[in-house]
Amino acid sequence: MEIRLTSNEVIQLRKDDSIFSALKEAGIYLVASCGGKGTCGKCKVKVIEGNFEADSYGKLTGEEKKSGLVLACQTFPLADIRIAIPKESRLVIGDKIAISKTKDLVAYLKSYGVGLNPFVRTMSLKLPPPTITDNIGDLDRLKRALAEQGINSMGFRHGSIAAMGKTLREADWTVELAYIEDPDDGREAVSIYPSAQEGSNYGLAVDIGTTTVVVYLADLKTGEVIDIGSTYNSQIRFGDDVITRIVHATEGGGLQELKDAVVSDINTITDSLVEKHSIDPAMIQAASIAGNTTMAHIFWGLDPGSIREMPYIPELNSFPLWRASTAGLSINPEGRVYTFPCIASYVGGDIVAGVLASKMTRSEELALFMDIGTNGEIAIGNNEWIMTAACSAGPCFEGSGIKCGMRATPGAIESVIIDPVTLDPSIRVIGGGSPLGICGSGMIDAISEMLLTGIIDQKGKFLEGKSDRIRRGEDSPEYVIFSDRRLEKDIVLSEIDIENLLRAKAAVYSGISTLITEAGLAMDAIERVYVAGGFGNYLNIGKAVLIGMIPDIPEERYTFMGNTSITGAYLCLLSKELRNEAAEIASKMTYVELSVSKMFMDEYVSALFLPHTNMNLFPSVAARLMLP
Ligand code: FES
Repeated sequence: MEIRLTSNEVIQLRKDDSIFSALKEAGIYLVASCGGKGTCGKCKVKVIEGNFEADSYGKLTGEEKKSGLVLACQTFPLADIRIAIPKESRLVIGDKIAISKTKDLVAYLKSYGVGLNPFVRTMSLKLPPPTITDNIGDLDRLKRALAEQGINSMGFRHGSIAAMGKTLREADWTVELAYIEDPDDGREAVSIYPSAQEGSNYGLAVDIGTTTVVVYLADLKTGEVIDIGSTYNSQIRFGDDVITRIVHATEGGGLQELKDAVVSDINTITDSLVEKHSIDPAMIQAASIAGNTTMAHIFWGLDPGSIREMPYIPELNSFPLWRASTAGLSINPEGRVYTFPCIASYVGGDIVAGVLASKMTRSEELALFMDIGTNGEIAIGNNEWIMTAACSAGPCFEGSGIKCGMRATPGAIESVIIDPVTLDPSIRVIGGGSPLGICGSGMIDAISEMLLTGIIDQKGKFLEGKSDRIRRGEDSPEYVIFSDRRLEKDIVLSEIDIENLLRAKAAVYSGISTLITEAGLAMDAIERVYVAGGFGNYLNIGKAVLIGMIPDIPEERYTFMGNTSITGAYLCLLSKELRNEAAEIASKMTYVELSVSKMFMDEYVSALFLPHTNMNLFPSVAARLMLP
């Protein structure tokens, strides 16, 4: 049997294969927030002709079904079939994501008052050439030169010395020795190369996010970031969030598949960077990896199953150094890989890296660090103490579980303003043109504007008859944000979407309020808020306060930090002192398990209102809504 696409591409199909798995096998990936369980409704394809059996239509509306749409993961062709894949269903995971270098990282590193002390260091050695009387072997000659510099212990493995003899002779016995000081194994050589070779000690800083993978290529001698690469984490094809990935790794037996996916993402980016800058990959001798606990486990090939089972204890919270060849990275096989320590199942190395990058533990000022990405992690504290928690906000700000939701990519509505008189919205679409869906910042905008204009009440319910744009949807009332007859569907926000978003924003706010209350403080005591994460880049503070997602404190206390996970990974690649500081931060962090906290549950219920049941916590919003 075969599937024919509208592009006339033909895909072979085995008996009992779903359309989804046949497309996946052929390298065509669909958005699959639920990992193929039939619950997210994102893997829609249109059957143009051919017979099939559908196990379920999930959330598809009657209209959508009538137009031929099916869920690819639930649909099994019975004969040859012809389909069309709507643009919004396609997942282009090889796409580069535009990431800009926002700060001068060398200056930022220096601002910590630490020197350049990279992970793999180099020393110059000038050896006397052998003679009839000075006739010791090459390695002994090298060790003798080291001893003259006061270094009596240095381990050598086959990989670092296999080409030594040739290199020494070609370099006229003047070489650089790259080595590492491993806290467990002591000093060990990584490579030997001619001193005359230019710019020859590089490293990678890597952020393995649940959604994206970012790589910085840095010169370890100067600290300069030579270039940046990024892509979607191709594990996305197995599900949007860490839970679906854990399920795939454990129940689906897909751990190796997930590991291979992310290692291949890092290698693909690295390969393109080395090619662009004509760098020998063997000269990349170190990598510093930051990721959440699930991502770190998968990268390490460890079973992440215990992360989602009571009492939620991961296999590893601190990771030994790793050889690049064992990790599978396409750099110098003898190079070393550092992995950030994690705190708990849902507070990982990305948060330790973020706290390090925010410098909040270096100041007396009481600060809140929040990373709202696929989940939502927070830390509160200063140079004396620090508490942390995961809010389980879920990935709905990235479009998952929202009817027309999508990530902040071209085609997403990122901003919505509603005219208070006509109640018509004006929208801004990433990249311009017609919208394909709405992303997190657009959703927050839309809800806050609907609240301000009275389209919804403080419970998030539509006031029927208030606007012509409110209509009865398939499963709940909905507000039409964008409609164009030429398009297959309208972009709407339904009451069920709003409920999901209220739950997510309530999880974030109640996480913050639980930690602050546990610390015996009030919200107003927070002197600085560091907002991190991809989503943090687009967050409109005023509107996030309006819906009660973040504390109602003066806007000037908020600072956007961008991707702090990659900044932390860079800092630790270049500085031994900061690697020690990261370890100290991790050991100082007190983790609060919110899923068993009664206080969190009470706070959560109160925060399900817009902005909150206790309006005293949101005086600026009360004033805008003209509430007493
Ligand atoms: S409904 Fe098919 S992947 Fe979620």
